[in-house]
Amino acid sequence: VDALERKRMKSERIRWRHARLATLSGDSPWGWIENGELITEGESLAWVGDAAQLPAGQFDAEHDLGGAVVTPGLIDCHTHLVYGGQRAREFELRLQGASYEEIARAGGGIRSTVTATREAGEDELLALAQRRLDALRAEGVTTVEIKSGYGLSFEAEARCLRVARRLQGADVRCTYLGAHALPPEYQGRQDDYVEAVCDWMAVLHAEGLVDAVDAFCEGIGFTPAQTRRVFEAAQRLGLPIKLHAEQLSDQGGTELACAFQALSCDHLEYLSPAGVQALAASGAVATLLPGAYYFLRETKLPPVAALREAGVPIAISTDHNPGTSPTLSLLLMLNMACTLFRLTPEEALRGVTVNAARALGLADRGQLRAGLRADFCVWDIDHPNELAYYFGRNPLRQAVRAGRIRA
Ligand code: NIG
Ligand code: FE
Repeated sequence: VDALERKRMKSERIRWRHARLATLSGDSPWGWIENGELITEGESLAWVGDAAQLPAGQFDAEHDLGGAVVTPGLIDCHTHLVYGGQRAREFELRLQGASYEEIARAGGGIRSTVTATREAGEDELLALAQRRLDALRAEGVTTVEIKSGYGLSFEAEARCLRVARRLQGADVRCTYLGAHALPPEYQGRQDDYVEAVCDWMAVLHAEGLVDAVDAFCEGIGFTPAQTRRVFEAAQRLGLPIKLHAEQLSDQGGTELACAFQALSCDHLEYLSPAGVQALAASGAVATLLPGAYYFLRETKLPPVAALREAGVPIAISTDHNPGTSPTLSLLLMLNMACTLFRLTPEEALRGVTVNAARALGLADRGQLRAGLRADFCVWDIDHPNELAYYFGRNPLRQAVRAGRIRA
């Protein structure tokens, strides 16, 4: 495409008519507009509303959506998409009674994925991750967050982040999760490793590979004191933070993360009332991960009613990773968020759109509203509650990303 053609596409005004819109904007249920239309201008939404109020003007093209339901493009705000190998054998061991923590302490778990990831070349990791991303995209994901954390050396973390940056077909936000587990070469030297994680962070950031910083604050991960050092390093670099918090026990990680203006705290099965209040006071998003809850056969539920009561925005994500959530279906997570966590279908959809955008610090997407990016999904359904109703069925007709119909 030459420069002139690109310029023309940039300003192209396209009318998308005969749509039923779940804008998730405003206070009405679903932000619903029954006789809806969209106008895109290049990569943005120029107008969203009721067909009766369509502004006059010329269009470069028109699409008739035939009354289909349109939602914002889906956002998977917590994944570990770049890694080598898989852990089906550990799944078998857990089914025979071993716990996730026992396997981790015995040197399996995250560490076994680290070995497989270090052995894989960059192009091999890219091919694996691209296939996983394509599966997410097939269900309407237009933005995805991807964490490092299976390299755990400067070189291997950099390689995983470069792979994430090279992926095609969705907007990718890269999160540095060097503090995911202790690599074998640092055995017995946890604090030295944390120092290395902070040193690498500055270099990786200088190379343009980091959009946010995360850590695993847990008995089998890092202590709150170590997590704080990671956050302080992020703060010095002006990088936003997120946290794997209270997944297996209450460490007070959420309160710590909120003191650093975290974008989100994720998992939260063991979140205390004080943690709920910290989230509410700081405005951080609670990202719930029903896939990990299900796959680990957890019985302790995150405090959804208390979060709702306190007005904490709730996001939902796949947490795709080989150890605790090897799913590649964000739609299945909508269903599980309702059946397992008792979210409403509307809350679940907000969790993968408007609140997921917020969990990534992205103010330009997540709703259908003039001025935002033209990322939206066209679904072969009659009502948006069907997105959480089906499981194992994909009703996506087409996805539009930055104003362009996706291949
Ligand atoms: O989000 N809890 C820590 N990290 C991942 C699991 C990583 C793994 O087991 O490989 C999670 O659940
Ligand atoms: Fe995770």
